Amino acid sequence: MNAVAEADPLEPHRALSGPRDVFAFRFTKLLRFFADAFFSGRYGHRAIVLETVAGVPGMVGGMLQHFRSLRRMEDDEGWIRLLLDEAENERMHLMTFIEIARPNLFERVLVLLAQGAFFFGYGFIYLVSPITAHRIIGFFEEEAVYSYTQYLKKIDDGEVENVPAPRIAIDYWKLPGDARLRDVVLAVREDEAGHRDVNHALADAYLKENRPAARKEVINALRAADPV
Ligand SMILES: [Fe+2]
Ligand SMILES: [Fe+2]
Repeated sequence: MNAVAEADPLEPHRALSGPRDVFAFRFTKLLRFFADAFFSGRYGHRAIVLETVAGVPGMVGGMLQHFRSLRRMEDDEGWIRLLLDEAENERMHLMTFIEIARPNLFERVLVLLAQGAFFFGYGFIYLVSPITAHRIIGFFEEEAVYSYTQYLKKIDDGEVENVPAPRIAIDYWKLPGDARLRDVVLAVREDEAGHRDVNHALADAYLKENRPAARKEVINALRAADPV
């Protein structure tokens, strides 16, 4: 099966509904424009820099949900753990890609600035409108799925060498011992598709009348899909 065929089951972009969605979508497209201009075809470097950013929102969202639970003395229905797990999963993406490409000094400075901007910027958006914040990540992840699909295509076309998978990736995703970069990118893309669906579902849950029940529904659906 080729990469394009494997990409088919991935859902298309969701329809925009309301100003929050439009803002989140345009914001995502703006950042995508800069990422495309900056990295052009260097997918290994792109993955590293963007994964350092991707690890921030789950931690910020989890932290703010934790504070919210303390403040309101309300149960979180498992959301805090879910968001912290997302941050950990993104960090593992970074730990994997750092074995494949090495960022240059300029990219390291960029990572530093992006982390600061994202911590404060995303934190501010999350405080003002958690719906917008989760929607932004939903759209970011749609772009991530698209980017990793392009990465797969470069591997299939022979433009990127299909090197052996790093040990850390084999252990984390329980891949076969002879797994290659292509298998890793497929696993990462599946994670990103999961984050996309979860974050859109979390934004949707905020709009439901019975929010705790809606939150529980998201968690239960996840547990049913991935019983660990
Ligand atoms: Fe990621
Ligand atoms: Fe992600």
